[in-house]
Amino acid sequence: MPWLLMLTLLLPTCSASYKGPTGLSKEEGDLLDRQYAALGLAEVVLQCPIPEGVSMVEWQKNGIAGPILKASVQEDGKLALWNTSLSQEGEYSCHDPATGQALHRVHLKLGYPPEKPSVQCLSSSYASAVRCAWKLETETHLDTWFVTTYRHGMDGEERDCVQPGTGTNSCSIADVQLFSIVPYVLNVTAVNPLGTATKLSPFLISQIIKPDPPEDLKVSVIPRVSRKLRLEWKPPSSWLFPEYFPLKYVIRYSRDGMNSSKTTRPSEQTSFVLTGIRPGTTYHVQVAAKDDLDNGECSAWSSPASGTAWMPP
Ligand SMILES: *[C@@H]1O[C@H](CO)[C@@H](O)[C@H](O)[C@H]1NC(C)=O
Ligand SMILES: *[C@@H]1O[C@H](CO)[C@@H](O)[C@H](O)[C@H]1NC(C)=O
Ligand SMILES: *[C@@H]1O[C@H](CO)[C@@H](O)[C@H](O)[C@H]1NC(C)=O
Repeated sequence: MPWLLMLTLLLPTCSASYKGPTGLSKEEGDLLDRQYAALGLAEVVLQCPIPEGVSMVEWQKNGIAGPILKASVQEDGKLALWNTSLSQEGEYSCHDPATGQALHRVHLKLGYPPEKPSVQCLSSSYASAVRCAWKLETETHLDTWFVTTYRHGMDGEERDCVQPGTGTNSCSIADVQLFSIVPYVLNVTAVNPLGTATKLSPFLISQIIKPDPPEDLKVSVIPRVSRKLRLEWKPPSSWLFPEYFPLKYVIRYSRDGMNSSKTTRPSEQTSFVLTGIRPGTTYHVQVAAKDDLDNGECSAWSSPASGTAWMPP
């Protein structure tokens, strides 16, 4: 099962071994337990195994003897921490007060279980890989990793959505069927020592097309024409097969120093003549692309280019 496999693979990076939902685990060759608990809990109890003949124990935090803030030692030797907050993280140890010997050590880590990630999948062209990215709205304060799989249709075979590296919070699906009317379903499962949360995101390729912005936008003067500017650009180079999947373009332009801009009607051409331009005034221009069939989203605006119309001498 990929989920278990993933856990095993990821464990060495997490410096603690994972042992079920209690959040308790043992580090090898040491008395040190790692305990995970949620922030904002009314009470968290740290265990201390009291040996025969020892009637009370003393707790230390980070090796320092003395009273521990927001905590009390219970009769059975356990330490109860109240109202958990990040300041209570650290290494706690219980000691035999007669000898000072440590009976047990607990490294306490506090955080939140993950919530469902918010996920967005986009494809910059038909027939190219789908890239999905996600984020958690709330910081967990704990190592949190993501298991990403997808199916083509609810009953399709489960495959990995490949993550380029840890910490990128993205994955890609290379091998997609273009004209399928069966949705893909991405499963992003966030995992940390306090819990897991799964977000399922169904999508059709036609809904998630978002071209990259057009490239090489140039604004040029038309000699002896005072109220026009010529624009030219190239389709985004990531857009594959433009002959089968045409793009349409809109242009946004504004006069230098003005906040308001005008937008042209969409056109398939990769050039345009702006008319009604004030002679001698600089104009700033950007262009955006969209799938000609109106599938998916419009690209971001291209980098701007500027030009000034010809002025009679
Ligand atoms: C989503 O992925 C997780 C982790 O691999 C798995 O446990 C869970 O069953 C999956 N959910 C669905 C609905 O496929
Ligand atoms: C814990 O927090 C609650 C609410 O903020 C407060 O009423 C209570 O007195 C706190 N308890 C301790 C032991 O600090
Ligand atoms: C443009 O907008 C900014 C803030 O949005 C404003 O301060 C400025 O006065 C506006 N300029 C013009 C020419 O409308």
